[in-house]
Amino acid sequence: MQITQFEEGLHGRVALVTGAAIGNGRAFCERLAEEGAAIAIADIADASETVATVRAITDRVSAYHGDLTVPAAVERIIAGVLADFGRIDVLVHNVGLYEEEPFELLTFEQWQRMLRVSLDSLFLITHAVLPIMKQQHFGRIIVLGSDTVWLGTPYLVHYATAKSGIIGFVRSLAAEVGTYGITVNAVTVGLTATQDPTDQPMNRTLLKDITPQPCIRRADEPHDIANVVAFLAMPAASIITGQAINVDGGIARH
Ligand SMILES: NC(=O)c1ccc[n+]([C@@H]2O[C@H](COP(=O)([O-])OP(=O)(O)OC[C@H]3O[C@@H](n4cnc5c(N)ncnc54)[C@H](O)[C@@H]3O)[C@@H](O)[C@H]2O)c1
Repeated sequence: MQITQFEEGLHGRVALVTGAAIGNGRAFCERLAEEGAAIAIADIADASETVATVRAITDRVSAYHGDLTVPAAVERIIAGVLADFGRIDVLVHNVGLYEEEPFELLTFEQWQRMLRVSLDSLFLITHAVLPIMKQQHFGRIIVLGSDTVWLGTPYLVHYATAKSGIIGFVRSLAAEVGTYGITVNAVTVGLTATQDPTDQPMNRTLLKDITPQPCIRRADEPHDIANVVAFLAMPAASIITGQAINVDGGIARH
């Protein structure tokens, strides 16, 4: 009996998930592993808890420590993944930094840090992974964005600017690499259960007064995002590229 493209899943594939020590990234690793992928995790923080979680699904998991805004660290991480797994089929670039600040209080240092963590890391990791994907004639690049770029949420000028940059990045790069069987997409997500909104000074205004109601009246869970990421990673999603797919219960009807 012939297996379908969905049943094929990600068996034999290798997925590199950045920023997966905690939060959504951990759910992405679990979901991709369930589909059969080997998992490489790149994070500046200790990712041993994520490794342990994924190990319940597959032995083919490893973590690589480093700051993804530093070129030498990115090169070292990619060399490590290749030495251990021999290929990289899927890149989920999930590294991010969330910080609320009214624009007039925003310092140049905060602005630069946001762009560095969100966009410099995206440049460096994609630059390192792309030649590998081109050689394989297969690749899936999935970048985590935010629904705040559609909503124009206040107090997030630096964050929304960085996340908007991701959308230009995926649209333009998709056009360059489609002929190599590589797709490049963004997933723009809403506030998910990983983030404690009370951590942020503006949260009461943001959450109660400003954010519109979702169509689906329940909190976004990491597995909701992970399902979309896993689908985009699959061979079956080969015709979807250059898109920003919004996953937030329909708050932003983009
Ligand atoms: N959780 C949400 O509500 C939400 C909403 C909208 C968008 N997002 C986006 O989804 C992604 C994941 O969100 P999350 O809440 O799970 O993130 P998180 O803040 O919980 O985790 C981010 C991870 O990135 C790592 N990281 C940060 N800087 C790094 C660097 N320079 N080098 C290597 N690793 C680094 C951190 O150690 C951490 O493990 C982010 O891009 C975020 O902006 C999240």
